[in-house]
Amino acid sequence: VSARRGIQPAVRRGKKARIALDGPAGSGKTWTALMTARELVGEEGRILVIDTERGSASLYSDEFSFDELVWEPPYDPRELAETLAAESGKYAVIVVDSLSHFWRGEGGTLDIVDASARRDAGGNRMGGWKTGTPAQNTMVDALLLARCHVIVTMRAATEWVMEKDEKGKTKPRKIGLAPVQRNDLDFEFTVVADLDLEHAITVSKSRCHPLADRVFPAGHGPKLGQILRGWLESASPEQPKAEPANGAAPAEASRTPQAETKAPISGNVVDRVAAAIDALGDKRGLFLGQHRITVKGGKPDLSGLDRMALSTLAAELAVTPDDEIRKITGETVPAGPAVAPDEDIPF
Ligand SMILES: Nc1ncnc2c1ncn2[C@@H]1O[C@H](COP(=O)(O)OP(=O)(O)O)[C@@H](O)[C@H]1O
Ligand SMILES: [Mg+2]
Repeated sequence: VSARRGIQPAVRRGKKARIALDGPAGSGKTWTALMTARELVGEEGRILVIDTERGSASLYSDEFSFDELVWEPPYDPRELAETLAAESGKYAVIVVDSLSHFWRGEGGTLDIVDASARRDAGGNRMGGWKTGTPAQNTMVDALLLARCHVIVTMRAATEWVMEKDEKGKTKPRKIGLAPVQRNDLDFEFTVVADLDLEHAITVSKSRCHPLADRVFPAGHGPKLGQILRGWLESASPEQPKAEPANGAAPAEASRTPQAETKAPISGNVVDRVAAAIDALGDKRGLFLGQHRITVKGGKPDLSGLDRMALSTLAAELAVTPDDEIRKITGETVPAGPAVAPDEDIPF
């Protein structure tokens, strides 16, 4: 080991949960968010619900006590970031119900992209992301930096599939699809759970091992918060964040949630990944979902990553994704639209 690298026993740090609940309308997102919030912080902990659905959380005020901020349009992600920064010291948990509005609602990230494309880029949507990506990243950073637990809900688009029942009769069944938010957002959360219309909760991603791959049938959702609380309480406190040098934006330091960023990361994706892995000081490299990125001869080996993984990585390291990724993949400018056409989602 070189002199500047110290080997120590690994310690799990941080006691603040970041939870995402996604599912179609009626699946139980709001109720489960409130239940999980109450379990995480106990009877006394203060809960703030940022409600974009015109007071729908207040329907549950008989069962749960909480403060409510009914958020009318515009759903500007930068304004959400400011609100999180201002309020997260006063509450034990903040629920954002739903975060989808800050993506696809009026004034959300996609609207910011469109407006900027029209204003600054002659209608070119890719150009609009120069404004949209930082706006979105500001919000993601604020969700990660909040001093309290954060629970977000996300609408999942719904679709009907035809299925045969036990008797062999073909029946339509409603299913939830991908959550309405930037497609790499799952990466940022401690726990991601998918809810269905039978109110079953399936943990699809979990850094909390006792919750990994768990399925809670209807009525048993409450346990999720209890299990998570026990796991968080057994962690060590967060280490104070190292001051970023050279006036790097503080947001930059938070891009790699599990890492203490020692040096500002700049340059292209390859350099940034190398710097991030160096800052991690972990010989095993940087884990990105299933992928493990190692550094050979000062350069990270990105060859095993598909475009999706590269996009996630670029977003994680706050680089302009598309330009940089194309440099690595050698792709030409894609012909299709940068954003999937809007689906029919009732907000
Ligand atoms: N885990 C659960 N078990 C049983 N019923 C549930 C569960 N979670 C939610 N519900 C019920 O499902 C209905 C819809 O819940 P809600 O949270 O408002 O859905 P969403 O916010 O996803 O539209 C409510 O009547 C609620 O009481
Ligand atoms: Mg709801």
